[in-house]
Amino acid sequence: MIKNNFLICLGAVLLFSACDSESNHVLMAYPEQESAAFQEFTRQCSSCHRPPMPDVHIAKDWQAVVARMQQHKEQRGLVVMSDAEQQQILTYLQAHAKKEVIE
Ligand code: HEC
Repeated sequence: MIKNNFLICLGAVLLFSACDSESNHVLMAYPEQESAAFQEFTRQCSSCHRPPMPDVHIAKDWQAVVARMQQHKEQRGLVVMSDAEQQQILTYLQAHAKKEVIE
């Protein structure tokens, strides 16, 4: 019985440490809050949900997400982002994106 409990605890510890090493979200607050890019990001990305932390995606995935958000704007008849605005937001998000894990 004691041995069983020990194994269950060990399993739980391994499980939690595995989860932990997988989620490498390190940002506690939005970076560069004084920058023009951050202003644009919050202006364009706040109307439907809270602006996401840049490290919820790796850099190469952000373009598709921003393009999809543009579609959401179109569908709701909101003012869409210009190419320059999208680029500015993308540059901001990619600069602070989740670091890609190299296997
Ligand atoms: C017109 C409303 C709207 C605006 C404005 C908007 N979003 Fe979204 N967003 C959504 C909806 C609806 C979802 C859930 C469906 C989906 O994921 O497409 C979502 C989901 C997300 C998600 C979670 C899903 C994922 O792929 O990680 C992220 C991240 C995100 N948005 C980022 C952004 C960013 C960055 C901007 C600004 C460029 C933005 N959103 C602006 C409507 C919007």
